[in-house]
Amino acid sequence: MSDSISPPRPANDLFLRAARGETVERPPVWMMRQAGRYLPEYREVRAQVDFLTLCKTPELAAKVTIQPIDRLGVDAAILFADILLPLEAMGAELRFEKGDGPVFPSPIRHRDRIADLARPDVAGTLGYVFEALRTVRRELADRVPVLGFGGTPWTLASYLVEGGTSKQFTHLLGWSWEDPEGLKLLLDRLAEVSIDYLLGQIDAGAQGIQLFDSWGGLLDLERWRRISLPSILAIAEALGTRVPLIYYVQGGSHLLPGLAELPVQVLSVDWRTPLSEVRRIVGPKKVLQGNLDPAALLASPDEIERRTRALLADAAGGPHIANLGHGIFPNTPVEHARAFVDTVKGLRG
Ligand code: CP3
Repeated sequence: MSDSISPPRPANDLFLRAARGETVERPPVWMMRQAGRYLPEYREVRAQVDFLTLCKTPELAAKVTIQPIDRLGVDAAILFADILLPLEAMGAELRFEKGDGPVFPSPIRHRDRIADLARPDVAGTLGYVFEALRTVRRELADRVPVLGFGGTPWTLASYLVEGGTSKQFTHLLGWSWEDPEGLKLLLDRLAEVSIDYLLGQIDAGAQGIQLFDSWGGLLDLERWRRISLPSILAIAEALGTRVPLIYYVQGGSHLLPGLAELPVQVLSVDWRTPLSEVRRIVGPKKVLQGNLDPAALLASPDEIERRTRALLADAAGGPHIANLGHGIFPNTPVEHARAFVDTVKGLRG
């Protein structure tokens, strides 16, 4: 931690330069879900407040956002928040229940229910997110850049339609076959609100935006193009090029030919496909982000180092931002997360 007597640290803009596709001295590194339960200092804060209260208290959200920067020396911060917060702002009741994850007690499963969802004034309903971002920017004082984020409309809909986390997504997929135009109305509404929300984050100081499509891979390429892509394009177009845009998809290796055409600078993929193979399909221009299997952080630090070196070598054919292929597991030892970060930074061995 810096204090008032130590000299100011030089700004670390490695992430921003890499995200623009510039040649950099080494790949930047950060981790999805880097602010979370694997950190004892996060668990200490969470012991005092529930998850939604933490998201809605800007000083606390800022504090846990900065914890992994201090602890691990990652090259970017990601705001502590959740992709589901805008759905609550639209009037959907949202609970986080211990062990069950998010729950929407009154799921939206028919076009007649879409009118129940408000188009909220995001400054009024989600102002706490913007305030947390401003606080993080002020407290980090350019030590590292700060990312904002949101879910894609398809992934947001997966929670809102199912009523929470799901294994088979029977309601969402059922709707997509029974009344595709009705589902489109929902995705369009979610895109409108996401645009207001993400522009609000950029105005509040977010220096990059990651769009999480955690369930994008449920659709085959043809249906992904037809059903999910239009709402992603609407968001990408509205955000423009003010800050780098990262699209993350889980379980979406079969979507790669479509992702090659996506108007985003950075593509982030899970661990199932090597980045050299992703590169072969999407071409030389895209910056690739990822993709160490988060489960590999449960191996020994020496094995993590070997795997990370192999990942860096495999990705070396084009611009790369080192990350995991999905969020870090809560049972990851902090020293193992550090082995990953330190290997990318050339601080091991
Ligand atoms: O990455 C970060 O450190 C920033 C914070 C962040 C959280 N959620 C905090 C969180 C981010 C970027 C998210 C994104 C998110 N939220 C996604 C997309 C990424 C992914 O995992 O696919 C999704 C699908 C959600 C919805 C969500 N929030 C679920 C399914 C859960 C329960 C599962 C779990 O991990 O417990 C959450 C809760 C949540 N969001 C936690 C955290 C730190 C755990 C809450 C706790 O402290 O108890």
